[in-house]
Amino acid sequence: MMYIGISCGFHDAGMSVVSDTGKLLFAGHSERYSKQKHDANLCEGIVKEAMSYVINSNYEVHYYEKPWLKAIRQFRAGQPIGPLSVKKIVGPELCELMGDVPIHTHVHHKTHAAAGFQTSPFEDATVVVIDAIGEMDCISIWDAWYDDKGYARYKKLWSKKYPNSIGMFYSAMTQRVGLRPMDEEYILMGMAAYGKPKYAQRMASQLFDNLENVDLRHNLHIGLEESFLDKADDMDIAASAQIVCETLIEKVMMRAKRIGRSSNLVYGGGVALNCLANRLLGKYFHDMWIMPNPGDAGNSLGAAALGYGKKIHWQNAFLGTNIKGPYPVKEVIKELTKKKMVGVASGRAEFGPRALGNRSLLADPRGSEIKDKVNEIKRRQKFRPFAPIILEEHVHEYFNMPRGWRDSRYMQVIATCKHPDLYPAIVHHDGTSRVQTVPKDGSGIRQLLEAWYDKTGCPMLLNTSLNIRGEPMVNDRSDADRFEKLYNLKVVS
Ligand SMILES: [Fe+2]
Repeated sequence: MMYIGISCGFHDAGMSVVSDTGKLLFAGHSERYSKQKHDANLCEGIVKEAMSYVINSNYEVHYYEKPWLKAIRQFRAGQPIGPLSVKKIVGPELCELMGDVPIHTHVHHKTHAAAGFQTSPFEDATVVVIDAIGEMDCISIWDAWYDDKGYARYKKLWSKKYPNSIGMFYSAMTQRVGLRPMDEEYILMGMAAYGKPKYAQRMASQLFDNLENVDLRHNLHIGLEESFLDKADDMDIAASAQIVCETLIEKVMMRAKRIGRSSNLVYGGGVALNCLANRLLGKYFHDMWIMPNPGDAGNSLGAAALGYGKKIHWQNAFLGTNIKGPYPVKEVIKELTKKKMVGVASGRAEFGPRALGNRSLLADPRGSEIKDKVNEIKRRQKFRPFAPIILEEHVHEYFNMPRGWRDSRYMQVIATCKHPDLYPAIVHHDGTSRVQTVPKDGSGIRQLLEAWYDKTGCPMLLNTSLNIRGEPMVNDRSDADRFEKLYNLKVVS
């Protein structure tokens, strides 16, 4: 039996396929096929690709939440009620492509928990899920372990129900500064470095009854009053929101440490993408795992994991469309040596929001000119620094990693750069970098960094996602060709 997981109907639709032996065969995002950023719906391209892994096999389809449970919450909150049937959410044509089989449903937060725990290296864990909202739960803490037969078991220890949500608080602040909620939270996080958290106390006392229990005074799902901090500078709002968010996360982590059985932390939900807040996790747990795609976009994997039931053999996040052929190490080095930026589209596409080397725009990070050059292509706000990608064994020469983080293989945490003057392009305003460490795993990006280090003595490259402005990351070679033409910049495969 094979297990197909799907998440769709809200934002960032995706599909995953797990084999009968727990091998993760495929995981991808609908947006990379439809070219609609954050596409909430599945599309023919991703369904066809996912189904190609289950030809001639028996399979089950699993969905990442329970529509009827969500409908109860919507009814209680006086909101429009969504479809009660998954087949209606997916659509008849795509259901037919999936063989019109019954679709199993799972509780949203349990799906997050499974996406984390069953891909983690742990045999037991305390699982924390923090997102905007599932069906009812907005925060949950679980004990997770494997039974004698190897099946994952979950026991919910504590939860916080709608509308008491850390994710919705952060989204409301994202909206307050004029950004798109449920989309541009990462920009708010980047803006925090430019402001002072001078409204944090006011924010906490005006919006929360009790920080310890995450009790909100108002339902922030419907937004904030227009008068809320109406004279405040956006950067100060961002810095204040980040502090309040971190305080709330720390309260939850303290509770998890107190009530959870295991000293291993598995952390999931969209809030786990806050790499600034993640620097604090090591204060509470020594061993941590955040699946590289911990938000709803990654929950198709959680649904498939619950269908399979046992530990999934996690290797890396390269799980999407395959651009075949060896990693183009020589070609990339040739371009970099000419002081040029170069795109790479090689191997399987990343599952998750970060380009980790297979769909990346790379550059020499040394010196002060490169930032402007990359910005010519990316044209993005100064709040968003470019990230360093570094040979893992050299990370401590260049960065002070936060407590508890020995590595950062999926760009999930910030680290202070030891030499910000030498590498201004990869250092944020507050002196930190969103670092990615690459272990000795024989991957293409590892081979490239080793060759670059041999040639230059520098174990690091600047890495940003390879995407045409306004579009999702490049998926296949035809996207790469369009990129080349538009920007007159080489993309090697
Ligand atoms: Fe979620």
